[in-house]
Formats: sequence, structure tokens, C-alpha cells
Amino acid sequence: MATQTGITIAGPNEPYTVVDNIPRPTCGPTQALVKSLFVGLNPVEPFMQHTGVLIAEFPAVIGSDVSGVVLEVGSECKKLEKGEYVFGCVPVGLNKFSPFQETFLAEEDWTFKKGERVGLEEACTVGAGVLTAGLALIDGQGLKVPAPGTNAEQKDSWVIVMGGSGSVGQYACQIAKLCGYKVLASCSPSKDEIARKAGATATFNNRAPIDEQLGLIERITGGQFGRIFDASVQAVQLSIKALEAISKESDKYFASADDWSEMDVPDSISVYRVQLGLLGRADNPLSKRVTDQVAEMVRIFEGQIEAGGLRPLDYELAPGMGWDKVIEGIANLEAGKAIKKSVVKVQEE
Ligand SMILES: NC(=O)c1ccc[n+]([C@@H]2O[C@H](COP(=O)([O-])OP(=O)(O)OC[C@H]3O[C@@H](n4cnc5c(N)ncnc54)[C@H](OP(=O)(O)O)[C@@H]3O)[C@@H](O)[C@H]2O)c1
Repeated sequence: MATQTGITIAGPNEPYTVVDNIPRPTCGPTQALVKSLFVGLNPVEPFMQHTGVLIAEFPAVIGSDVSGVVLEVGSECKKLEKGEYVFGCVPVGLNKFSPFQETFLAEEDWTFKKGERVGLEEACTVGAGVLTAGLALIDGQGLKVPAPGTNAEQKDSWVIVMGGSGSVGQYACQIAKLCGYKVLASCSPSKDEIARKAGATATFNNRAPIDEQLGLIERITGGQFGRIFDASVQAVQLSIKALEAISKESDKYFASADDWSEMDVPDSISVYRVQLGLLGRADNPLSKRVTDQVAEMVRIFEGQIEAGGLRPLDYELAPGMGWDKVIEGIANLEAGKAIKKSVVKVQEE
């Protein structure tokens, strides 16, 4: 059996270990074998390492956002070819799909083909953020993305993005704007520019007392909103109060990137909780819907990225290269030292 290098975790809260004995996966008919070149780091990595949640097998190989080059394709692949560059967010917690190893498997329907417009480094800032925001706003709240290169009809309605400065939140701002909505984003005052660059028309301070935040939402929107996406996972109470007390629209939607906490949401509000972790999980009945939606979104967003309608995030490339740099990068993320999206080069092509 061919083996390869990468990072494994022996069990929940066990350290990351660089090893050279990971079995090298073999392509199924609709899969590509991809060489990991750059990985983007997300909060899900330390979460999985500490808790073991979402991990299907130990020793585990983890990782979520990646860009790389196709080495082989399965017999029924229609979209991907050997030598092409690809990127995206993998189904997390399944060893053979995980990018913290030399090569991993990519289902072609869930994988973005890299065009001319984005570079390989920035491409690995796209997957988890755009898919989480897309599930929330398109599957969860019915937004319609215009065809690439065309403009959506401008709506006299706001979409509120809690955490518009984060990775998920920046894509939510971009998608809502692309769909013709005015965007109000919450963020720290120091990150106002980030949310505005992503498409927010206005912002408010996410650390202000809740009554102050509600007052600003009312003053800025005049109640002309019915959709809130909490990409920060910190703003359930604020979001529900805003929809109940301020929104003047008849249809009210609340989406959250938090799919783990208990939430008490009144029946008058439609709730959607993003479960990107179900992508590719044959063992879960809800997985098919998430997986089908992701395939649809990859098609929609591939065109938008190439047309310039959606942009990758600003990022910081870690100095050096290799698996130990990934481990250092995750430690920095956990220590709150990552100001921008962290990208690590893991191998030469
Ligand atoms: N359910 C799913 O399938 C799924 C998928 C992907 C991600 N997620 C989750 O989504 C969340 C966001 O991920 P991300 O990658 O976008 O993280 P991120 O880049 O770290 O962004 C976090 C956001 O939350 C805001 N925030 C942090 N602490 C806050 C507080 N105390 N009060 C209000 N806002 C606060 C930040 O705003 P400032 O920095 O401006 O203060 C920032 O906008 C994470 O919890 C992640 O685990 C879930």
C-alpha cells in the first residue's frame, strides 16, 4: 500500500503529529486525486482536534479549505482533468477527503475548478466561507444569485449580517449585495473597513450593549429588513429581538452558522441552521440535501468568481512551507493572532 506524509491526530485533544505512513487514497469514478498545495485555516480545525466532533475515524487527518493540483481522475469524471488547479472546502472529518496530507480525494461536483481570475494562494480562502454563507442565504433565505456578469434588481430591503468582518460574514455580505440587497453588518469598529470592502453599506459595533445595537439597526434600516444571518454565532438574542421588534417585513428569516447550541426561536420566524459538516456524509439523512445544495452552489459561485462577482478574502501567507507550519498556524489562530485569513503553503507543486 502506498503511503504519504501529513498530519494526524490519535484521538480527541491529542496533539497534531507529522507522520509519513498515511495510506494514499485511490480515486472513485467521479473523484480526482488532488495534491494539496495551499490550505486555508478555519475555526473548525482546532474545534475538531480538541473535541473529536465531526471526525469519523482515528487516527484522523483533518483540514477544510484547500487549493491544489489534480494528479489523477476517476473513469467517470466530466469536469476535472489531470493537471488542472482546483480549490474548495472538503467534507470535513473523513480521512481520504482531508487536505492535511500529500494527496486527498475530491468529488468533482463539490470542487471548484480554478480559472484565470484567482490565484492559488487566495483560492483556499473561498470554500468554507462562501458555501456556509451560500447555504444560509440561498438555501435558508431564498436569495437568488444573478447570472454571472449581470446585475440583480436592486431591492428596497436590507440583509443584516452579524459578523460581517469574519470569513463567513464577508462572503455573506458579498452574496447579499450581489443579490441586490442593501447590507448592514455588525463587526468590531476596528474591522469596519473589512465589512464595507465585502459589500456592507453600513456597519454597527458588535460589542455595544444590545439595546444600542437594536437602536442602530432601527435607525439605519427603518425596519426594512426580514433576513438576518448570524455568521458570528454570538448574536441569536439580538437577531431574534431585531426581527420581532424592528422588522416591518412580513416574512422573517433567521439563519445561523451555529448548528450546535439550543435556540428558542418564535414560530413567526423561519429558522435555518447551516450544517456544512454534513457534506458528503452517507451516514446522515440530512446529508443529501446539504450535498446537493453544495454541488449547486459550486456551479453558481464558480461562474461568479470567474466573472468577478465574488472575490477571495484578504489573507496572510505563513512564512515557510510544510506540515509543521500548519500546526503553527492553527496555534496562532487559537491564540487570536490571525488578523486576516491564514493561508499555509504545504508543498511545492
Ligand atoms: N455550521 C456550519 O456548518 C459552519 C460552517 C463554517 C463556519 N461555522 C462557524 O461559523 C463561525 C464563523 O466562522 P468564521 O470562519 O467566519 O470565523 P471568523 O473569521 O473568526 O469570524 C468570526 C466573526 O464573529 C465576530 N465575533 C467574534 N466574537 C464576537 C462577539 N463576542 N460578539 C459579536 N461578534 C463576534 C467577529 O467580529 P469582529 O472580529 O469584527 O469582532 C467576526 O466577524 C465559527 O463559529 C465557525 O465555527 C459553522
